[in-house]
Amino acid sequence: MNKKLQLLITVLLVCGMSIHAYANTHNGVSVEHLSADNTFVRVVGEGKYLMLPVQESNTEDATINVIVNGNIDQTIYVRLAKSKVDYLMPFDLSRYSGKKVILDINTKQGRMTVRDVKMDVCWNNFALSDSFDITNREKYRPKFHHTPEYGWMNDPNGMFYKDGKWHLYYQWNPYGSKWQNMTWGHSSSEDLVNWEHHPTAIEPNGLGAAFSGSAAIDPEGSAGFGENAVVAMYTTAGTNQTQSLAWSNDNGNTFNIYPGNPVITLESEARDPNMFWNSETKLWTLVLAHALDREILFFTSPDMKEWTLASSFGKGLGAQGGVWECPDLFELPIEGTNQKKWVLICNLNPGGPFGGSATQYFVGNFNGKTFKADTDVNGIIPIKWLDYGKDNYANVSWSDAPDGRRVIIGWMSNWQYASEIPTKQFRSANTLPRDLSLFKAKDGELYVASRPCKEIDALRTNIVENISQQTVSQRSKTIHLPKENNGVCEITMKVDARSAKTFSLILSNERDEKVKMTYSPTTDKLSFDRTESGLSEFSDDFPAITVAPMYSANSIFGLRIFIDTSSIEVFEESGKSVMTNLVFPTTPYTSLTLTADGGNVKVSNLKIYSLKTIK
Ligand code: FRU
Repeated sequence: MNKKLQLLITVLLVCGMSIHAYANTHNGVSVEHLSADNTFVRVVGEGKYLMLPVQESNTEDATINVIVNGNIDQTIYVRLAKSKVDYLMPFDLSRYSGKKVILDINTKQGRMTVRDVKMDVCWNNFALSDSFDITNREKYRPKFHHTPEYGWMNDPNGMFYKDGKWHLYYQWNPYGSKWQNMTWGHSSSEDLVNWEHHPTAIEPNGLGAAFSGSAAIDPEGSAGFGENAVVAMYTTAGTNQTQSLAWSNDNGNTFNIYPGNPVITLESEARDPNMFWNSETKLWTLVLAHALDREILFFTSPDMKEWTLASSFGKGLGAQGGVWECPDLFELPIEGTNQKKWVLICNLNPGGPFGGSATQYFVGNFNGKTFKADTDVNGIIPIKWLDYGKDNYANVSWSDAPDGRRVIIGWMSNWQYASEIPTKQFRSANTLPRDLSLFKAKDGELYVASRPCKEIDALRTNIVENISQQTVSQRSKTIHLPKENNGVCEITMKVDARSAKTFSLILSNERDEKVKMTYSPTTDKLSFDRTESGLSEFSDDFPAITVAPMYSANSIFGLRIFIDTSSIEVFEESGKSVMTNLVFPTTPYTSLTLTADGGNVKVSNLKIYSLKTIK
């Protein structure tokens, strides 16, 4: 043996140290670099969490195999900090209590030597901790919309109502505020207003990450998971996308993964299964997005495990500008009649009316196996949008909602820029929940009406403005928004714009950042201009003007506008029209200015309510 090496070993033995390559022990972890690409972070101390240091601009995720007592327990992907720590994310160690844990980290940064990799700031910032602070640190976190406590969120998943609780799962990255490690996060609410956060519901496994899906209650236990089991069906996204089952016997708090997964495999990309019990055919029915083929597949099953392909719908129909995702299928009542029609929701990315992702739908008939969309007066299947803003995607509805309600919620962002919006601790909120129905418009077509759920009224605290009549002309009228709660509020009013050319509502702050909404009686459309609304440089796709048809009766309509920190939802009062848009004013909007061109507009019943912050 070479003399130097012999000496080194003797020194190590004398000093009582074990030979761990370049071990640097601190904060309860031992960092051992093995090569330019590979480092072990070994847990040597005690703590509930191992804090992971993240730098968002590090576009290359490190691949981390979590080795527990010598076996790979899971693999996670994390943007480990190279030059600066943006934030720490908690990796929960409590499940490994008493076991030996090593994070086997492959950093893949194309570095040549161990010396290079040692320069990364992450190594000194791994630490064990017993707590993780989730106190809000974000200026743009909404005050009355559902958000994850921390980390990235996209699609709402697996929603069901049971025993007085609205359960909401969501696509979640527990290890960063950009998309990755898709896991089902879980929240629930008794009132659709306040949300309680629960432990993780479904995690990635050997079949892949836990992508979007649905859940349904199985009253008779037809799947063999017990009576009243909550059965979730979701996409396991590994090398390819397959469909898997998980079930819960404790009302959706914890899920068991079905050992026979996957239950559906196809030869091309398909995802986001949405299943429901069809009481007419007495079969479980499933809609699945055949994403790249831009169509929806329909399956039936007696037991949720054996599925038979019944039909497909959509090839070449509707908006085709992007992949089809997150379908939903349900019946809705037609207002003013005792009839119902089927609605097929089909989210699309990109190809939305104002760029990026958006939700289209088809109205038609479903006989248990095939869906047939209604044609318009020209014999064409029309393109219909659920929301005319830029920021409402992946809409799906709650199963088993009470009183025959069909309640839907969307992800309040757009794939064009979702990962760039100016927050860090968390990213993305959900829209307000909305009740759906169908209405017949002047053009003879049936459209979906979306109204904010009645529960939302409970957010109102004070009426800070109450104007029974106001004539608006070129001489504008300015009203202050409530100061309390940083201006979060609801504005309601009736508008009679018959005698004017345009009617505008401008929300602004003292820095002259503004949102301008303009109604034109000639087109019966309302536009929403956020080009000067505040921060927008994070994406060229953010500045935009969105335009919604109002379906008004002779330019007379009501409005409900919800302003919450970084979002604005504008509803035609009866839900015929809705626009959801994000905004990032550098200070909150403080005033509402009403103005009209080419005549007078009568505004009545103008009320501004201050709204409270939710739990
Ligand atoms: C839609 C979507 C789904 C997929 C999920 C992955 O936003 O792309 O199709 O299941 O996000 O997070």
